Amino acid sequence: MSRPRILVARAVFPEVLDKLSQHFEVQSNQPDEIWSKPALIAALKDKVGAFTTGSERIDAEVLAACPHLKICANMAVGFNNFDVDAMTARGVLATNTPDVLTETTADFGFALLMATARRVTESEHYLRAGLWTKWSYDMFAGAEVHGSTLGILGMGRIGQGIARRGAHGFGMKVIYHNRSRLDAASEAACKATYVSKEQLLREADHLVLVLPYSASSHHAIGAAEIAQMKPSATLVNIARGGIVDDAALAQALQDRRIAAAGLDVFEGEPAVHPELLKVPNVVLTPHIASATVKTRLAMADLAADNLIGYLVKGKPLTPLNPQVLAAA
Ligand code: DGY
Repeated sequence: MSRPRILVARAVFPEVLDKLSQHFEVQSNQPDEIWSKPALIAALKDKVGAFTTGSERIDAEVLAACPHLKICANMAVGFNNFDVDAMTARGVLATNTPDVLTETTADFGFALLMATARRVTESEHYLRAGLWTKWSYDMFAGAEVHGSTLGILGMGRIGQGIARRGAHGFGMKVIYHNRSRLDAASEAACKATYVSKEQLLREADHLVLVLPYSASSHHAIGAAEIAQMKPSATLVNIARGGIVDDAALAQALQDRRIAAAGLDVFEGEPAVHPELLKVPNVVLTPHIASATVKTRLAMADLAADNLIGYLVKGKPLTPLNPQVLAAA
């Protein structure tokens, strides 16, 4: 009997490809070319499953051109590259990789907060440029982290991980805003207090963004929101590009409207707003918050297990639109 055909749309760990090859006829993209939409469609149109990352947009046009498709398994917890409604309407299952990256991503959020507040990369560039000729009392003096107020916008699993680190590790006062308030036990576990978005902006010394991207979170932080923040505040975005208006942020950093920012995600990445590259008070990293070897392997494994779970065993592990299962 012929085996189901799947596409692995980006390069992946060889052991994950081997595992998939035990169940499927696999077309892979180990050279890791970034495909145009027509190239993606050409590769996907005879497949029943796809292993995707955030760089493959699965929308109505792709779905219409790929009538055999039954599942797209994203190797990411975020899934704004999927039009989930269109997938559901066509009976295509969507899966993501929650939980396995929570603590690793929260570690990185905190690392970026620390680097931003304590001006780590800015001072390293100074040193590497040979500009360090003497010590001085205010050289790269940054913002206090311990004991300060940590604001979190978006209090899902990763937001709660950052809150726990701040509250328990650094004695920070934690305030948060989210679409829905956490239950009392979860708030107590991360010693977090629910506040309005306005209060969050006004009171945070360090504001970390961890909310999912959607039409309603587009430019959730723009010039008007930055204007409400303390001039001494820092802003960290590990969520998704587009949640921050990068042009407005670059201008605010130039004008010292806020002290500094740390960004792991960008509007239109891998392109970065050219003005952000010019300002010194921003730490820039290329979307690596979940990038440890162990976690990336766990993410790839979970995406593979979703494909095997659904196409071979009839039971995916982490479906995003389980109504497809009920209808199948
Ligand atoms: C995620 O899992 O959503 C990370 O941002 C990696 O893409």
